[in-house]
Amino acid sequence: MGAALAAVIAAAALAALPRPAAAQAVAKASYTVAQADSGYVAYERLNCGSCHGADLSGVGGPPLKGGPFAYNWDGKFTNALINLVRMNEPSGSPGTVDEATATLLVAYILSMNGVAEGTEPLSMARRAVITITPRDR
Ligand code: HEC
Repeated sequence: MGAALAAVIAAAALAALPRPAAAQAVAKASYTVAQADSGYVAYERLNCGSCHGADLSGVGGPPLKGGPFAYNWDGKFTNALINLVRMNEPSGSPGTVDEATATLLVAYILSMNGVAEGTEPLSMARRAVITITPRDR
């Protein structure tokens, strides 16, 4: 057997090996439709739109959807985004949004960034990575 063929076979054998557990450990961000719906209600009630726009495209505050938001949050963890909302927002009176409400708000924001809903609820307890595909930016 030629060296090149041997290399191809070796590469194929390697590719067939199961991926190491560490590479699979990180869950993908997921939220339920009910969470996103409640998050929309909270977004309206807390007047987030006064700075981020009714459609999240930003007025005074930065947009919470599209390219700039994806640039900041694609590949980052849901926990970090929930924490940011809980600790920093609304920017005029930070610390007034509790964890449960911050979680719902983030579910709504993810839904507006093309992150698909799922059966697994969004929560601080479930560390998961945000994936915003270029198509949705
Ligand atoms: C008074 C204006 C104002 C209000 C009201 C407000 N925000 Fe913000 N928000 C800002 C500003 C300004 C920033 C950027 C802060 C910075 O860059 O340090 C920001 C940043 C954010 C970010 C981070 C965006 C990014 O790309 O990293 C999120 C998420 C967010 N706000 C969510 C909310 C939510 C949810 C509410 C309602 C509870 C809210 N904000 C209310 C002004 C506001």
